[in-house]
Amino acid sequence: MERANLDFANLPFAFQDTDKNIRYYFKDKKWSEGELTSDTTVTISMASTCLHYGQEIFEGLKAYERADGKIQLFRIEENAKRLQRSAKKLLMEPVPIELFREAVHRVVKANARFVPPFGSGASLYIRPLEIGISAEVGVKPSNEYLFMIFVTPVGPYYKEGLTPVKLRVEEVIHRAAPGGVGDIKCGGNYAAGMRATIGAKAEGFSEVLYLDSKESNFIDESGSSNFFAIKGNKFITPESESILPSITRLSVVRIAEDMGMEVEQRPVSLNELPDFDEAGCLGTAAVITPVESVTYRDEVFTYAKDGKVGPKVLDLYNRLTAIQLGEAEDPYGWTEVVE
Ligand code: PLP
Ligand code: COI
Repeated sequence: MERANLDFANLPFAFQDTDKNIRYYFKDKKWSEGELTSDTTVTISMASTCLHYGQEIFEGLKAYERADGKIQLFRIEENAKRLQRSAKKLLMEPVPIELFREAVHRVVKANARFVPPFGSGASLYIRPLEIGISAEVGVKPSNEYLFMIFVTPVGPYYKEGLTPVKLRVEEVIHRAAPGGVGDIKCGGNYAAGMRATIGAKAEGFSEVLYLDSKESNFIDESGSSNFFAIKGNKFITPESESILPSITRLSVVRIAEDMGMEVEQRPVSLNELPDFDEAGCLGTAAVITPVESVTYRDEVFTYAKDGKVGPKVLDLYNRLTAIQLGEAEDPYGWTEVVE
């Protein structure tokens, strides 16, 4: 296999076309055989439910090349299960777990030359999405769906990479509310948050930290990742019904427990900001991104001095990425090879 001619060590987190994407249609109550295509466009009715009523859900996961040249996936089953939960909440057709797995394996294999080389610091980002495509004008669920996956080689989500980022507490805009859809991965949540993120970036921050929309007192999450903080030997991370249950967080909580850290998953109040020693963001794109500071009104709480990553955040990052890249043994059964 001849690898794609790309500057893998300097890739941005941006869309880049590859050889193939894969599509499955749900029609007449059954899923089609998946079709690999090099066409990046989609033709659907202008009355599709995804375009008007937001029947659009997606996932994000990554493939990595290991030192032995094999391609490895991380926790694919969790992404498959989360896509099903998202589908059920928006009355969409759940994609069977096995179909999801087959689709990911097929599309990664078909684009193997785009998997960044081991040691490049980049990975192949996998973006599955599902949309309602039957033509409706009344508000009701579609009876036809398109499930597709594209892949794209990416570098770090924040241009800073493992350099700590600055966050700002967002007091005005909320991305989600209790009883809403903040706990699933639907496009509408990102539309709701775009003003906040773009506004914070214009002020020199990398992202915002959202607050619970009921009391504006508890930390929810960031626009594209979950939040955690370190206090002594404690790993503290918000419990909230309006945040996306991050698969990276699920994994890091387990790693932290096995390191002997005390894990507290509970509502985290803004009043605790002065107490933390270190902080970070957790996500597929963000991996573990250290937080340099959180700005709340005119106060700045600093968790990484002079851009230096704190010891606990660095330790967690090294342990997580060693498993993801196949450098360390995977005692949890989180990884699988694309054959
Ligand atoms: N929270 C939001 C809003 C996200 O978009 C993401 C990214 O997927 C996460 C959290 C992290 O989730 P995961 O670790 O499963 O990628
Ligand atoms: C991910 O981490 O997979 C995400 O979906 C985050 C972002 C790119 C929206």
